[in-house]
Amino acid sequence: MQFLFSLSSFSSSAIVLFSLIAFVLFCNTNAVLRLPQNISVPAVIAFGDSIVDTGNNNHLKSVVKCNFAPYGNDFSGKVPTGRFGNGKVPADLVAEELGIKELVPAYLDPQLQPQELKTGVCFASGGSGYDPLTPKIASVLSLDDQLRMFKEYIGKLNGIVGTERTKFILANSLYLVVAGSDDIANTYFVAHARELQYDIPSYTDLMANSASEFLNQIYALGARRIAVFSAPPIGCVPSQRTLAGGLHRGCADKYNEAAKMFNSKLTAKLDSLNRNLPNSRIVYIDVYNALLDLIENPENHGFHVVEKGCCGTGDIEVAILCNPASPICENASDYVFWDSYHPTEAAYKALISPLLQRYLSSFF
Ligand SMILES: *[C@@H]1O[C@H](CO)[C@@H](O)[C@H](O)[C@H]1NC(C)=O
Ligand SMILES: *[C@@H]1O[C@H](CO)[C@@H](O)[C@H](O)[C@H]1NC(C)=O
Repeated sequence: MQFLFSLSSFSSSAIVLFSLIAFVLFCNTNAVLRLPQNISVPAVIAFGDSIVDTGNNNHLKSVVKCNFAPYGNDFSGKVPTGRFGNGKVPADLVAEELGIKELVPAYLDPQLQPQELKTGVCFASGGSGYDPLTPKIASVLSLDDQLRMFKEYIGKLNGIVGTERTKFILANSLYLVVAGSDDIANTYFVAHARELQYDIPSYTDLMANSASEFLNQIYALGARRIAVFSAPPIGCVPSQRTLAGGLHRGCADKYNEAAKMFNSKLTAKLDSLNRNLPNSRIVYIDVYNALLDLIENPENHGFHVVEKGCCGTGDIEVAILCNPASPICENASDYVFWDSYHPTEAAYKALISPLLQRYLSSFF
């Protein structure tokens, strides 16, 4: 499998550093959700960006990675696996909550065990997005790259369990599609890479059209139960407060307005897909309001710090700027954000568990 990692004209490291992603979900329980008796979810399969990347970028020639301390500081054995956080990410938490397995391995991991293919793998890549320019800027896997990997995966799965079982796994698994924040924050606002060609209404059209096309493609390959995460309130992550939140580091309103506009277009696209694709259960997951609630009412959820990340100053560090030389906070569970862009495992848990409870029945 070969990927082209094009060097874009925007490859300044500053852009890449902000080109990661932000957000999402879970609750501090290990309780496995109870599924209806005749329902089975054999695997969790993730596509998208750093919110669900479990280590694919370790194997790319990109600076958008984090397979070094203090990343993974609260992971079992303190291992920096390449997950963009201090512990598990939503791909893992969803699989755990569904009682499937504890960790969803990165598809590009050379140590990947063939047995893992039956219960799900991750194709996501930190810094990626719906806009094809977004992964180019970061030299990471585009959604087209991820789709090619998925096709290769299906071939391997056929070899392991046969075509009938493969069809069953593909149709009954839960797919996570998580992207959009890098498009808005990095490609559009920070890199200014699209501002001359597009205003926000036309750029969010581009994003929503690309999302719809990708969902059509995975449906054509057999996916039916698909959770599509909304864009988060990206203007409220610590790095964007620093860059665009003014003297008082408030939330960058125009970023949040762009995220909301994208989300309304995404909702309409998903409605249309569900009408046109037989047996599809493509579900819009409202991460926007869930994360905003955590940010606006942290104490209600047991958090004390929301404007800074746990790593370094917390104002700007992400990826290589959050490194072994960076001091970290005493207890990441007090923080909504681990670095200046990505939530802590505790925040992901506080988000994901209620979201799963809320949306699970929509998939059956
Ligand atoms: C599962 O059972 C419920 C209630 O008995 C039924 O309505 C539903 O159609 C069943 N679903 C499947 C996939 O068999
Ligand atoms: C960290 O904070 C969490 C939540 O406030 C608390 O439950 C936990 O005991 C703390 N851990 C340590 C080592 O202080």
